[in-house]
Amino acid sequence: MTNLLTGDVTGLRGVDLGVRDVAAHARFYTDVWRLAVAAERGGSVYLRGSGAYCHILALHPRSEPALLCVNLAAADRNAVDRLHARVTAAGAPRVAAPAPLGEPGGGYGFAFMDPEGRSVRVIAEDARHADARLLPDRPERITHVVLNTASQEDATAFWTRARGLQVSDRSMLTFMRCNDDHHNIAFHTGTRSSLHHIAFEMDGIDSVMRGAGRMRDAGRPIEWGPGRHGPGNNVFAYFIGPDDFVIEYTAEVAKVDANHRAREPGDWVYPPGRSDLWGATPPPSARMKAAQEKIRFAEGLFHP
Ligand SMILES: [Fe+2]
Repeated sequence: MTNLLTGDVTGLRGVDLGVRDVAAHARFYTDVWRLAVAAERGGSVYLRGSGAYCHILALHPRSEPALLCVNLAAADRNAVDRLHARVTAAGAPRVAAPAPLGEPGGGYGFAFMDPEGRSVRVIAEDARHADARLLPDRPERITHVVLNTASQEDATAFWTRARGLQVSDRSMLTFMRCNDDHHNIAFHTGTRSSLHHIAFEMDGIDSVMRGAGRMRDAGRPIEWGPGRHGPGNNVFAYFIGPDDFVIEYTAEVAKVDANHRAREPGDWVYPPGRSDLWGATPPPSARMKAAQEKIRFAEGLFHP
């Protein structure tokens, strides 16, 4: 995986969620969503995709659903230390010192809070699976997380300065990357800092659509899609999962290199009534739009 900038952040490893009923969520994310249990510890369940990351989705018991942490992968422990210095210099309100991690997968990393109260960890030297591969109907990994911000400009500036992410494109959202995926993090304007959605990458369009079938069977029909986004050119189908987390199956995310030129909102104008490149899907449901503002970051730094 080539990093276009510093080489320090190599990817989006995953997210930690606080959920009301860990067992029910784990059943959903294995039986329907098709992740696999990597570990269970202290009431938390750690789920892996078919890719190499030890786990991509961690479920922790909480009284209210929350996004507890966004986890970034770093190249090695020296990269973690450099990023710790950069995050501190960029003015993060809270930063913990780098240390070994006690959770499944281990590794060496640090946690910090960004200016809008998002808890983030940067982790290196964690355990990886040797059997990483693409499999039909199985999410490989989390390919991006979209976050609501009061100011896309401020959020983008901090994340660029602190972590060396680079803007790929701007539409209604600001799409940022840390490797050759078109985007790993994107910012959407919201009334407050919250989770917009989490996207899981599938091995192709058929797996996205068969996943949509399983979701329909499970009483969770498509809320937006199937379609193909402009920025990133990825195929998408969006759903509302348990506790109203908005989750996306996606495929064919564009790869970009150093020659990529960021486009601006005026470059992404769809004909009236359309919200994607194909034009087959109705616009996003009102239910989904409401859910995309509901999940907040839990207060305070997250230490597993
Ligand atoms: Fe997405």
